[in-house]
Amino acid sequence: MNQKYAFLEKVGREPSNLIKGLQAVQGVEGYVSDESIVAIADYFGIPVVEVEGVLSFYAQFKRVKPGKYKIAVCDGTACHIKGSTQVEEWLTRELGIKSGETDARGHFSLETVACLGCCSLAPVMSVNGRVYGKLDRKSMIKILKEYENK
Ligand code: FES
Repeated sequence: MNQKYAFLEKVGREPSNLIKGLQAVQGVEGYVSDESIVAIADYFGIPVVEVEGVLSFYAQFKRVKPGKYKIAVCDGTACHIKGSTQVEEWLTRELGIKSGETDARGHFSLETVACLGCCSLAPVMSVNGRVYGKLDRKSMIKILKEYENK
């Protein structure tokens, strides 16, 4: 087994633990890479295609390596009403990536998420878990500049 994935040993080797194994990989690497899929298939003794089938079924698993700064745009009800679609469009225009993508230099990634739990600040986004609320185009650009050269 690829020693890089030795942490899988903490997950029981029964194929019924496949989702736990995928979650473990994503917890360590931030996504599920092609390399890890092969390691997982090897560990559980199942075909790669079976691992890929499970991956494609569950939206919780990311197949793209996240950027250094993970931007999450809330599209919960309150944020949607207050313009989350517009916020996402601004971000897409500024960063050149859509939700679910990472920019070419691996600096920013963008995703759309459900309620971040601070609806009174809608519309809201977070960068690596730090929440920014009452967004408009000007404040969003200011936030991006903060992270641009970090
Ligand atoms: S709906 Fe966006 S924080 Fe609750």
